[in-house]
Amino acid sequence: MSDDLKQTFFDEIASIKGLADAINLRVKYLGKKGIITARIKSLSSLPPDERRLAGRQINELKEFIEKACDEKEAFLRSADLKSRLLAEAIDITLPGKHFGFGHEHPLSRTLREVIDIFTRMGFSIEEGPEVELDCYNFEALNIPKDHPARDMQDTFYVSEDIVLRTHTSPVQVRVMEKKRPPLRFIAPGKVYRCDADVTHSPMFHQVEGVMVDRDITFSHLKGVLTAFIHQMFGPHIPVRFRPSFFPFTEPSAEIDMGCILCKSAGCRVCKGTGWLEILGAGMVNPKVFENVGYDAEEYTGFAFGMGIERITLLKYSIDDIRLLFENDMRFLRQF
Ligand code: PHE
Repeated sequence: MSDDLKQTFFDEIASIKGLADAINLRVKYLGKKGIITARIKSLSSLPPDERRLAGRQINELKEFIEKACDEKEAFLRSADLKSRLLAEAIDITLPGKHFGFGHEHPLSRTLREVIDIFTRMGFSIEEGPEVELDCYNFEALNIPKDHPARDMQDTFYVSEDIVLRTHTSPVQVRVMEKKRPPLRFIAPGKVYRCDADVTHSPMFHQVEGVMVDRDITFSHLKGVLTAFIHQMFGPHIPVRFRPSFFPFTEPSAEIDMGCILCKSAGCRVCKGTGWLEILGAGMVNPKVFENVGYDAEEYTGFAFGMGIERITLLKYSIDDIRLLFENDMRFLRQF
């Protein structure tokens, strides 16, 4: 009788595939209403001499089934775990996900380099508004309303006396109005002119520079700007100062450096001259000092201005300014 039962159990446990079936099988035999449980209960109805033997047999069978169920469940549990681990495994041979890092913009880089050079020479940094009063952008810089110099700079007018600043020179005036000499600062920032082609953009960046004290001479201007060009472009670049005109400086100069593209041999970029114009500068016009309340007999100074886009285009041989504003990562990553 119990041998038949053992055989039935054998067949059943052998055909089990999943953990849930194994647990059901245990309940079927050993649960409260299980086959073995029922057998044990029925022992009491046997005569005492049979009960002893039957009791031992059924207990042996119970232990056997328990053990078989334990093993089966343990086996199925570990098989289940293995297949889950396999399914959830990370394939470390797959290529990693690529995170697109940003990249410093070439204009930011040039600006940072220019600022570094001048701060090393003791210049501080000043800022002014991009929407500027006509009187700061022009008037105080000795450019009255009817002055032909206004034609040099195609101005965006916000109203009759408010403009988008056409250069960073108004910052000179704003700073000098507030502070007394000695002064030594640069003013980087955005400027606006109604002009657009491969080398001009309606918005671009300039860095203004000013140095004012007693006995500042044109030699200081030459020394500082030559040192700047040599640090920016290389110590052997030839530099020349050419007479020029700005209403707010007198005398004025335009500063050229030897063409870095053709090594002064003459090329398309330097228009065959071997020289590239890189800065505008001059001794601060006494009229500007008077406009800010400085004694022009006591103080002298120089000022200069440069375009960050122009320097960047030259430094990296970029032939179209628009590339600087498209923010195409394929372009930006090259620097
Ligand atoms: N503001 C001038 C320009 O934008 C540059 C300049 C600055 C010239 C300071 C002389 C002195 O063209």
